[in-house]
Amino acid sequence: MSAMGKLKIVTILGARPQFIKAAAVSSVFSSYFEEVLVHTGQHYDPNMSAVFFEELNIPGPKYHLNVGSGSHGAMTGAMLTEIEKVLEIEKPDFVMVYGDTNSTIAGALAASKLLYPVIHVEAGLRSFNKAMPEEQNRILTDHISKILFAPTQTALQNLKHEGITEGVHLVGDVMYDGILHFSKIAQEKSRILESLNLEAGSFLLCTIHRAENTNSLERLTAIVNGLNACNELVVLPLHPRTLKYMNDYGLKLADNIRVIDPLGYLDMVRLESSAKKIVTDSGGIQKEAFFLGIPCITLREETEWVETVENGWNILVGAEKEKLVEAIQQFEPENERGNYFGDGNSVGKMTKIIQNFGAEIPVRNS
Ligand code: UD1
Ligand code: UDP
Repeated sequence: MSAMGKLKIVTILGARPQFIKAAAVSSVFSSYFEEVLVHTGQHYDPNMSAVFFEELNIPGPKYHLNVGSGSHGAMTGAMLTEIEKVLEIEKPDFVMVYGDTNSTIAGALAASKLLYPVIHVEAGLRSFNKAMPEEQNRILTDHISKILFAPTQTALQNLKHEGITEGVHLVGDVMYDGILHFSKIAQEKSRILESLNLEAGSFLLCTIHRAENTNSLERLTAIVNGLNACNELVVLPLHPRTLKYMNDYGLKLADNIRVIDPLGYLDMVRLESSAKKIVTDSGGIQKEAFFLGIPCITLREETEWVETVENGWNILVGAEKEKLVEAIQQFEPENERGNYFGDGNSVGKMTKIIQNFGAEIPVRNS
């Protein structure tokens, strides 16, 4: 309990999608809880981190751990050491983590070992591909969390199949809350179409960053070849990981591909909502395409967001040139979009659940 008599939550953030989720959550939590933000430093370039804090009004982190880049073990280990120190100082009532990155598992593990209850936002997602670092992170995090906020029915079922039923709450998706709020602001404030001289509906928006695509010469080459051959203008805000691998592999992009730096969220949402189609391997962008009603072509063999595929608004093409080109030219959703991601008030539901749980926990002495 904080000095103000509020429950105290230490929230661990580190990667771009976590800042975007935090933008929806922290603005509400600030009225009910004392939230201490910890930035692990996993993402550190200004356009991968600072831009989101500035434009989305996320409170500045109290702690910055400066753990960026490096191998999985080195990064996660360094985060664990530093997060443990923060928890010993802050002695929170809860530790909250988002999603499935190395920052997520480091936060959850540091907290769980010190017996702080872990809140996992976006619990229960599964790709059933354990070769993905994210799948390992999310399974482990779910199994040591006390409060699990599942965004979808599918996530709830996944947890049940693994025997996790206690502390699980279906609350909807905080990214849906976020886009409802920020897409209006993006329409008013973003000038990205004008500054790139783009007409709405005249281009594809593409993002690539998933390790299984970037770290494979064969897969990344097939994706680039597909984009080069698709006969459409492709706008490609390039993740630093992908830039590095494209240079290492010596891949050449054709003139129809327009590479730009990673974007702030408001510019990204304006581009997403103005795109003809979205081509991506991102988890968050598959959902945003669905929320905005833009057909999505996913550069993976499987997805955690199965509802978007089953509903016909997302198609999985893996990393195959012909399938990619065909989807770009022919994929058109035919169904009405279903409602799988809640009512836009996930954060309100989370607040009540944490308050109820907090009323039951014994006061910690040290
Ligand atoms: C991480 C997450 C992934 C998430 C993605 C969101 C893990 C295992 N992966 O992947 O789940 O979808 O973030 O974008 O946690 N780099 C920079 N500047 C930055 C950040 C990264 O140059 O600000 C470069 C570095 O070379 C770094 C590499 O990108 O080594 C990879 O960064 P890392 O955070 O390890 O993984 P992501 O691919 O970003
Ligand atoms: N995003 C952004 N600028 C970009 C690319 C992505 O603001 O240049 C946003 C995107 O709109 C979504 C989130 O970042 O909200 C997704 O993050 P990312 O694709 O890095 O990770 P994932 O969701 O796959 O974990």
